[in-house]
Amino acid sequence: MIYQKLGKTNLDISKVAFGCWELGGDKWEKRSDEGNIKALRTALDCGINTFDTAVNYGSGHSEEIVGIALKDRRRECIIATKVRPESLRPDDVRQSCEGSLRRLQTGYIDILYIHWPNNGIPLKDTLSEFNKLKEENIIRAIGVSNFSIAQLKEAVSYSQIDVVQLEYSLLQRNLEAEILPFCIENSIALTSYSSVAKGILTGAYHFGGLSVSPDDFRSARRLFIPEHREKERELLVLLKEIAASKGAAISQIAVSWILNQKGMTSAIVGTQSEKHLMENIAAADIELTQHELDILDKTSRKVLKSIDG
Ligand SMILES: NC(=O)c1ccc[n+]([C@@H]2O[C@H](COP(=O)([O-])OP(=O)(O)OC[C@H]3O[C@@H](n4cnc5c(N)ncnc54)[C@H](OP(=O)(O)O)[C@@H]3O)[C@@H](O)[C@H]2O)c1
Repeated sequence: MIYQKLGKTNLDISKVAFGCWELGGDKWEKRSDEGNIKALRTALDCGINTFDTAVNYGSGHSEEIVGIALKDRRRECIIATKVRPESLRPDDVRQSCEGSLRRLQTGYIDILYIHWPNNGIPLKDTLSEFNKLKEENIIRAIGVSNFSIAQLKEAVSYSQIDVVQLEYSLLQRNLEAEILPFCIENSIALTSYSSVAKGILTGAYHFGGLSVSPDDFRSARRLFIPEHREKERELLVLLKEIAASKGAAISQIAVSWILNQKGMTSAIVGTQSEKHLMENIAAADIELTQHELDILDKTSRKVLKSIDG
């Protein structure tokens, strides 16, 4: 595993991070807590030191599972959690953080994010409470997620923003226009979520015979609607060819592509499968040639144009 400094902090985060939304159940079909606890511990044994959860992943259940799994080895882990947009008033921020500490069975949180912005609550007030929590050593780094460039610029005027978390993959590249250069210029770490596009960039829905049922929350999502799935095929075929030439999995090429983009600090991938976890860990070691990066870039742009216009 490769590690990288998180922005201007002295935290070293693994290039592949464990996404823990799935472990809370929620919209995802939850597998056993015992299996998920084991997977979290295996991840740590195998080099993933960074775990991404949130208050609202399974109404706190994801945080509880992370707490149970990692409490004995707390000092080895970087745990990130998030405050819901409804809880961004200063008192609510503190209360939310206290709830997370309790569920995570820890005395501090490595990264506390604003999960989504809330235009009804002044950002200045929210971040002044985040700053206090940092001064009190209750949190070690401040992150924002799902912010626009304007919101990010405002945020950096109130706090040292250490990390930005946004959706990013070969099938969602909006952050490249403004957020990515801003983060590079300001030494802010940038981490991707939905790094394998909720499963699409694993090939499971194009070649693996998997399909989403109509009651699966993903069925109405942009990348899962049948018309778009067909448009994605060209990219998936290319990924499959590159993967085959390296004896790798399709998902590993998709994750490696993210890690090869200048300014991207890490990629978060969610899984409840130990087999998939091992693939995701090994993705950090996959090397892509300049030619492979170039054709992936070209094909991804072509596919995105046909989907998004
Ligand atoms: N900040 C935010 O607003 C936000 C939003 C969304 C997500 N996130 C974070 O990012 C994490 C990941 O994003 P995501 O949940 O949207 O989706 P994702 O990581 O792109 O995809 C997860 C899906 O891919 C499958 N998968 C993962 N690795 C695989 C592999 N190697 N081979 C085959 N299938 C694989 C998983 O199934 P299996 O369980 O079968 O492996 C699961 O169905 C979340 O857990 C959460 O921590 C943050």
